[in-house]
Amino acid sequence: MYKLEKSGSPLYMQLYMQIKEDIVNNILKANTKLPSIRKMSSDYKISKTTVESAYSQLYAEGYIESHPQSGYFVSKDIVQNFTSLPIEKSNQQIEKQYKYDFYQAKHSEDVFPKKLWSKLHNKVISSIDFGSYPNKQGDLNLRKELSAYLSESRAVICDEEQIVICSGFSDSMFIISTMLKKFTSSIAIEYPGYNVVQEVFSLQNYKITNIPLLKNGIDLKILKNSKDKLLYVTPSHQYPTGKTIPISKRMELINWACENDAYIIEDDYDSELSYNNRPIPSLQGINDNQRVIYSGTFSKALSPAIRVSYIVLPKKLVPIYKKIFNFSFSGVPIDIQKSLELFIKEGHWDKHIRKMRTLNKKKHDLMKKAIKEYLKDSVSILREGSGLTILIKAKIDMDWEKLFTLLEENSIKVYSTTCDSNLKDNTIYLGFGGFKEDKISIAVESFSKQWFKAAKNTN
Ligand SMILES: Cc1ncc(COP(=O)(O)O)c(C=O)c1O
Repeated sequence: MYKLEKSGSPLYMQLYMQIKEDIVNNILKANTKLPSIRKMSSDYKISKTTVESAYSQLYAEGYIESHPQSGYFVSKDIVQNFTSLPIEKSNQQIEKQYKYDFYQAKHSEDVFPKKLWSKLHNKVISSIDFGSYPNKQGDLNLRKELSAYLSESRAVICDEEQIVICSGFSDSMFIISTMLKKFTSSIAIEYPGYNVVQEVFSLQNYKITNIPLLKNGIDLKILKNSKDKLLYVTPSHQYPTGKTIPISKRMELINWACENDAYIIEDDYDSELSYNNRPIPSLQGINDNQRVIYSGTFSKALSPAIRVSYIVLPKKLVPIYKKIFNFSFSGVPIDIQKSLELFIKEGHWDKHIRKMRTLNKKKHDLMKKAIKEYLKDSVSILREGSGLTILIKAKIDMDWEKLFTLLEENSIKVYSTTCDSNLKDNTIYLGFGGFKEDKISIAVESFSKQWFKAAKNTN
């Protein structure tokens, strides 16, 4: 019996909902005939139109079928007992929050200028036209601000037409890999390097050539032999080693690209944060050779949570981008784009970068001091003096498996350069960006306790 109440939602909705519930819960089984419209109407003292409306909604949604001359039946294909269907386990891992997380691309909570951002956000909200689609390539004024900033601070030669606003590095790489598919089907990547590049280009069916690093950047001989026409590098601050490609090698790379009609993807992910010397001018700006696709991000200096990155295309690739991505809009919400535009325009971005440089240098020095104090001679420092991390190498014999188990048990997370924990080269990143200054020493001390417990010679 269905319970239909005169007050509340329309009667046909009540009837529809209750029949639907019975079908879903397998009370009304597949192929069961429903009472005729006339019978329902007289049993429940409701109009035929009410029953017809309920049945027609169930029919439209596929719960029931109509058999001519016979009436309505519960659909034979219906999947019933929804609630008892096995619930697929989500592949998504719930991200564990560690007490001490030494991740190299993290900022402590106090770094993002929340008050200022919300003031700017409030200001831009009133000027946004929410009734219209935004610019596909990214807000024009934001692109203008960016082109001025890039030219001033990174010597990038470009105008706003060459810039595409993307939602994070993987989106930037997706756009480039999609655009260049007709041009080439393989890419040379510096090795070791940032794994996201390989992941995106592999997904797009590119053949990957790993180009090993020499002291001054990638091995050009191997690059030339590979016959690849696309290269990914981090010339100003190699990831993960932190090395800089000197100008002579940069020229060689540009010459290689010009001679081979090739493109170079320059990932300039954190140069603006360089605190020991002035950032090296970009590869893109060496001359206007149109062979470099420049890639930047706001993750390192401002926030990885807002997901804003950008690419600067050579002029001749702009029409190709526009044609291929004609259907697509920048994934960055317009209020974030507009807030960012104002952030740069009003001079806050420049001030913020200066503040970040000083803060990062302070944190870096605190981390280095703590490493010396707690890890003593058990490690050597391989990379320091820039970015948000110090790279250490074990000088003692280490049971790595034991170390990672102990760290996990004590809610401490460190990272290896090999992106897995087999640590062939015995190196570990100790990122400091995620810690407030007063937590750095205690974090390293906690790490060092597990470190020495896992050292083979102390057991
Ligand atoms: C080498 C490199 N490139 C780019 C990025 C920026 O990534 P995203 O813009 O997705 O935050 C990172 C961040 O860690 C990085 O390490």
